[in-house]
Amino acid sequence: MSFVVGSGLRKRFVTRERLGLFKSRAKIVDALNGVDISIDRGRLLSLVGPNGAGKTTLVRIFATLLLPDEGKAYVGGLDVVGDADRVRRLVGLMLYPDKGFFGRLSGLENLIYYGMLYGLGRREAHRRAEELLKSVDLWEARHSPFEEYSMGMKARLGLAKALINNPEFLLLDEPTVGIDPVGARKVRELIRGLKREGITILFTSHNLYEVEELSDEVALIVGGRIVARGPPDALKQKLGFEPVAVVRAVCSGEERTLSKNGDGRALAALVREAVEAGCEVLEAYVREPPLEEAVVKTLGGS
Ligand SMILES: Nc1ncnc2c1ncn2[C@@H]1O[C@H](COP(=O)(O)OP(=O)(O)OP(=O)(O)O)[C@@H](O)[C@H]1O
Ligand SMILES: [Mg+2]
Repeated sequence: MSFVVGSGLRKRFVTRERLGLFKSRAKIVDALNGVDISIDRGRLLSLVGPNGAGKTTLVRIFATLLLPDEGKAYVGGLDVVGDADRVRRLVGLMLYPDKGFFGRLSGLENLIYYGMLYGLGRREAHRRAEELLKSVDLWEARHSPFEEYSMGMKARLGLAKALINNPEFLLLDEPTVGIDPVGARKVRELIRGLKREGITILFTSHNLYEVEELSDEVALIVGGRIVARGPPDALKQKLGFEPVAVVRAVCSGEERTLSKNGDGRALAALVREAVEAGCEVLEAYVREPPLEEAVVKTLGGS
């Protein structure tokens, strides 16, 4: 069985919508409509999909912060509802935006506080906090108040906080949003390091380039349903996007671009055809459609 499993998960939110001073009516949102999901140990699965698709709702269920209306979710064989306390010990969570830090306290103090919340003694919490601050590259800033941290530093502290209990399953909900390219790359490097340590990760992001770079698998979620999933390349294929071999050549004094679906083999065939036809090949390459393009077109963008 996979390390993380969700089956038939449903979640409905009922809120009241105000229509006027004395009038309101129930507003029903089916945030999850029967989600099946599984992640093998040590793998990183990305959830991608439009705003409101249900990503954060699913993350919160696995973090034991929200109860599903229907369906089951397990982490390491433990039921997130029936065994919530034990699941919490296995899971680390980073939500965006992180409202859980005290602005006036330093990064170090904030982490010690969370370590103690997880039941570590003060000395052990201090030791763990220092170790994590080094690993997320915040050692120099450990005594600065949180409110003075840049977005990138806040995100790295969020990652450290998510790791305070040595989790086996890490939930990262948009960990790179609002961070500059250099900072985001740093966060991605940290995530890759965690993967190498064997931590199982559920990741969400609207940046499909980083999703493609980091993921073992990608699940596309729309309207509370997973509509497609697979390793990035396979998912692109499922969505009807394949690599295209392209050859630019001059044939009888005229420049032409020839193309054919496929990769290396198609490219070789195209080059051969061009040469046999007496053309001069200027350029030959395989264009890999980025995941971004496949997802945007699938979701009806252009
Ligand atoms: N506490 C809540 N009360 C009422 N509705 C909610 C609540 N939380 C989420 N929703 C609704 O459930 C749906 C799914 O929300 P969710 O936050 O899971 O989406 P998301 O995929 O994380 O979106 P985003 O990409 O914007 O973060 C949305 O329609 C949202 O408005
Ligand atoms: Mg969200």
